[in-house]
Amino acid sequence: MPATSPEPSDMDGWRDERRDDAVAAFAASIPALYRNEITLDPDVAAWADRIPGAPVSLFLWGPLGVGKTHSAWQATRRWIAAQFAGAYRGTPTVQTWRSTSLFDALRPDDSGGTPKQLMRALQTADLLYIDDVAAARVSPTGWTQERLYEIFDERYINQLPVLITSDVQPGQISPIVGERVTSRAAEIFRGGVVHLGGADRRKAAAA
Ligand SMILES: Nc1ncnc2c1ncn2[C@@H]1O[C@H](COP(=O)(O)OP(=O)(O)O)[C@@H](O)[C@H]1O
Ligand SMILES: [Mg+2]
Repeated sequence: MPATSPEPSDMDGWRDERRDDAVAAFAASIPALYRNEITLDPDVAAWADRIPGAPVSLFLWGPLGVGKTHSAWQATRRWIAAQFAGAYRGTPTVQTWRSTSLFDALRPDDSGGTPKQLMRALQTADLLYIDDVAAARVSPTGWTQERLYEIFDERYINQLPVLITSDVQPGQISPIVGERVTSRAAEIFRGGVVHLGGADRRKAAAA
């Protein structure tokens, strides 16, 4: 055994340290409003903690202000921690995007195409989280929808998780993302659609 490889007895402590570092680094990137830990919906918690039988991907939808975005950030933090259970595969890569910024970033640059490095990162990251997928209300161009399809298709083929929040249900995103993405999404999120209900927490806080 090479001298650098930790003894099995040290392995758990070593891995826990890597996990804590990865979780702390991600937690520092969470927007301040969504940084405090909250009690997650049981289905969201099952996805985040990689409970056996939990779906690969999660589509979290519901009305404005019920805590979708906050849940998604906190679920992602827990999902990262859960990646360190079992065989050590390194620190997971996570891409987090607001949909409007993502659609902007996918538009052709001066060279006439979407940057290849960005496409690759979106296709291969261990987790892709897109917040408020239908926020734009105005559909992005066919070009952007086609890039989105390439991202969803590649991730689906490789069974790589996608986390989405949305104020409309999965069947209603096609005016924004197009028919092809919607049809892929139906497969990606099969068994992983969670509805968050309840009152608007922003109004409750203001009252
Ligand atoms: N479980 C929770 N406990 C306390 N505050 C919460 C909880 N979930 C969300 N919030 C707060 O409620 C507000 C709305 O949450 P947000 O996630 O932005 O809603 P949505 O994305 O569904 O519109 C935010 O200020 C958020 O921090
Ligand atoms: Mg939100």
